[in-house]
Amino acid sequence: MIKDLLNLYYISNKKDRMNPFKKFELWFNLAKKKNLFDPTAFALATSHKNKPFVRMVLLKLILKDGYVFFTNLESKKGKHFLDNNNLSMCFYWEAINKQIRIIGKGEVVDSKVSDDYFSSRPRGSQIGAWASKQSTVLSSKKQLLEREKVYKKRFEGMNVPRPDYWVGIKIIPKEFEFWQQGDYRLHERESYTLKKNVWEKKILSP
Ligand SMILES: Cc1cc2nc3c(=O)[nH]c(=O)nc-3n(C[C@H](O)[C@H](O)[C@H](O)COP(=O)(O)O)c2cc1C
Repeated sequence: MIKDLLNLYYISNKKDRMNPFKKFELWFNLAKKKNLFDPTAFALATSHKNKPFVRMVLLKLILKDGYVFFTNLESKKGKHFLDNNNLSMCFYWEAINKQIRIIGKGEVVDSKVSDDYFSSRPRGSQIGAWASKQSTVLSSKKQLLEREKVYKKRFEGMNVPRPDYWVGIKIIPKEFEFWQQGDYRLHERESYTLKKNVWEKKILSP
């Protein structure tokens, strides 16, 4: 399958050295060799103008009513969220053969929560949050490094304040789906849907 895609792309883009299918294959093969695992990483889906977008983020807080990740509100995902707060998250934990999908509504957490988390980050990451206009186009990597220099200087000798746009977003679940790998593809799937403040449980065919 991957080979077919590669061939197809080469035929239509003979001169293009930046073949994304080739790059995918390289990274895919590298990933197969390693067994790295961060259980807090999840795929976050936003929806914008009928187009789905997905990217990885990290779960940083578990509150009694939702799950929090931190990001730049001016990024692509931030803008999507401000326009449409329906969000979906998906965890996959290979070592235990489990997946969890959550669908919910996002909301920005209290600024105190974002302040506390921001202040716990390494100084370099705090500067990075100022330097990176997340998801905007850079003319070169140099431009980003220049911006980093500017903010290093600006905050020399003081605590780095949290930029207003750098916030926690809490996903308040409306639906959960738990997937557990079973033998011979007879996996177990359980869905929980919130109906009038009661979680309704169903078992799904795998
Ligand atoms: C494992 C992993 C964890 C990440 N965690 C975050 C995160 O917590 N917050 C964040 O804004 N971006 C995180 N990123 C980067 C995002 O995947 C994404 O590239 C970036 O936020 C811009 O996304 P956007 O253009 O869709 O807004 C992470 C990437 C990886 C691979």
